[in-house]
Amino acid sequence: MRLHVEAGSASIGNVKIHNVARVMQLDAGHVEDTASDSGSGNIRFSRNSLYTIESELAIVIPCMNEDVSILDGVLHGVPQDAMIIVVSNSDRDNFQAECDMFEKYCSENERPGAIVHQTDEPIAQAFLAAGMPEIVQLDSTPLRIRSGKGEAMMIGVILAQLFGKTFIGFIDADNLVAGSVHEYCKVYAAGLRHALQLQSATDSNGNLDTPPRVMVRIKWNSKPKVRYGAIVFEPSGRSSIVVNKWMNRLLRAISPTAPKSLIQTGNAGEHAMSLELAMSLRFATGYAVEPFQLIDAGERLDNVDIVQVETRNPHFHDTSKGGEHIERMQVQGLSTIIYSSLTPPDIKEDLKQYLTKELPAGLDTNGIPEQARMYPAIQTLSFDAFDATLSAFDGTLRVYGDP
Ligand code: GDP
Ligand code: CO
Repeated sequence: MRLHVEAGSASIGNVKIHNVARVMQLDAGHVEDTASDSGSGNIRFSRNSLYTIESELAIVIPCMNEDVSILDGVLHGVPQDAMIIVVSNSDRDNFQAECDMFEKYCSENERPGAIVHQTDEPIAQAFLAAGMPEIVQLDSTPLRIRSGKGEAMMIGVILAQLFGKTFIGFIDADNLVAGSVHEYCKVYAAGLRHALQLQSATDSNGNLDTPPRVMVRIKWNSKPKVRYGAIVFEPSGRSSIVVNKWMNRLLRAISPTAPKSLIQTGNAGEHAMSLELAMSLRFATGYAVEPFQLIDAGERLDNVDIVQVETRNPHFHDTSKGGEHIERMQVQGLSTIIYSSLTPPDIKEDLKQYLTKELPAGLDTNGIPEQARMYPAIQTLSFDAFDATLSAFDGTLRVYGDP
């Protein structure tokens, strides 16, 4: 892979957000890495250095009642050396179909995989044993953890850690094009590699010598929609436009010299990071999870590099989820800005007015959105206790092949 990297970045606290890089070549041939000190320009990544990351990468696919044949296509795009973990919140019949398909796929392709259902009771028990009751719906019988994409991602982080991975990437299960999925995974490897170099987290042989805090967020080339029978390649998603605009306003209030539209990945569902970072971040519920990563890192964490990369492939996904879904996403995303200690009062006030005018349905009686539920950092969990509880319930975590 070859990326074109623009110089330029801005900081929120000790979190550096870098200008959007672009994919120049999906495959740059059998080349050596460009010298590691190049922070900008055209940077090529050898197959070997992509492999080094992929062999340490877990790809987590959160999935809730997507068509099984579409999930099947997603699996086919994930490079062989990355380990796939599916975290499902689908209806039981669908889940069984997902397991059957996934098992067959792993066996035919001679690769390991793991799949789990988010609401199985042993998962809730494992969170309780490990010391995170907040995620469990304590009044449910049988016990279960809360629904939501953020919650599914947290399970993915824990499993990636238990499987001994160093990096984690997330891919939505409703991607219609396996080739796009493949590009996202390659961008994760190249982007992580690049971010590690920016952090000087590797020695001269490319081995990690400090636990890195790096993240890659994907900006889709476009999000196609069908309008009056024709495909329109919209440059941005409906929720992203709004969330990015307010994120950039916040960024420029904190860092006045920041490029005007530096943040283009506020909502990036497709992103990857070092487990070190995933363990120290707090995850928020549902669709607040991605914007909240930027806010939480900016509020609390040191020495984080966030790289954004624009892909070549468009993002074809299920666009039938409707206007309410988009509004919920916008409100959840913007709520992370309203409640942040980073946000100056004038921006909070303007944002309140915007919400009152544009998204009144999502507000409480005080005219503000509910604060998204957020969980303690995953590193506060006892992993031994989580593992022991999960292992005691045979059949909850289904592992195919030998990870
Ligand atoms: P959008 O593409 O950003 O509009 O969001 P989607 O609705 O497509 O959700 C992104 C991914 O998360 C899809 O693969 C969904 O199936 C999945 N997802 C959404 N909610 C949940 C949930 O509660 N649990 C799990 N496990 N997955 C979810
Ligand atoms: Co989607």
